[in-house]
Amino acid sequence: MKIAIIGYGKMGKMIEQIAIKRGHSISATIDVQSGEDDWKKVGESDVAIEFSNPQSAVKNIRKCFELNTPVVVGTTGWYHEYEQIKNDCEKAEQSLLSATNFSIGVNLFFHLNKILAQAMENLPEYNVEIEETHHIAKLDAPSGTAITLAEGILAEVSRKLKWELSDKAKEDDISITAHRRDDIPGTHIIRYTSEIDDIEIQHRAHSRSGFATGAVVAAEWLFNAPKGTYTMNDLIGF
Ligand SMILES: NC(=O)c1ccc[n+]([C@@H]2O[C@H](COP(=O)([O-])OP(=O)(O)OC[C@H]3O[C@@H](n4cnc5c(N)ncnc54)[C@H](O)[C@@H]3O)[C@@H](O)[C@H]2O)c1
Repeated sequence: MKIAIIGYGKMGKMIEQIAIKRGHSISATIDVQSGEDDWKKVGESDVAIEFSNPQSAVKNIRKCFELNTPVVVGTTGWYHEYEQIKNDCEKAEQSLLSATNFSIGVNLFFHLNKILAQAMENLPEYNVEIEETHHIAKLDAPSGTAITLAEGILAEVSRKLKWELSDKAKEDDISITAHRRDDIPGTHIIRYTSEIDDIEIQHRAHSRSGFATGAVVAAEWLFNAPKGTYTMNDLIGF
């Protein structure tokens, strides 16, 4: 496939290496300095992979729709606009696959989180909280992955009404503590605590390569899928 990379930072560069190893070619590389000629190449690509920043993602996704190029989006921090983008994608008969986390292990962790939350619905003696740690350059807090985990719990545990960052969280909120430290690629902990004991599940990424590989696999999948909006659930099928 001819892959366009939108956002040539830490993730974009790793995606480039992995895509080439998997036999693809890089047809365009878009970053802040790119102009219309570069974007034209996105229109000539089989698929685009977008890892930029929360302020740019929505504009870049819309450009891909205009150019008729299926787009895989890894950027986080724009999901308050997700419903609008999903509608626009469907109206324009375009293809979008977005995920707050492309790692296969994290998607398995999302699944475990749901199963544990289902069991916890009938155990009100347990409180639940989330803790995440990322590198200091991460712009959004809490992480998109932590929000997805919180949403998974909220769908199952009726005593929790919404999530909040830990400094604002009340009893019926899921408290999320976000640490920014060193070059940590991403650690997430779900912790249930009671007077008797604690239960914790943890996912710890060792590097960014799991996210980058998942994004390229998602691009291969989206290229062969009918037009529509998708998430990693559609690909992994838990
Ligand atoms: N979904 C996942 O699995 C996953 C994994 C890791 C990171 N992320 C997210 O991906 C995004 C990028 O992460 P990163 O670590 O590569 O960040 P980064 O800061 O290293 O790279 C971002 C790049 O985007 C560029 N950029 C800024 N504005 C742009 C624009 N308008 N158009 C195109 N490019 C633009 C920047 O110049 C930079 O090169 C972040 O939102 C991060 O949270 C998601």
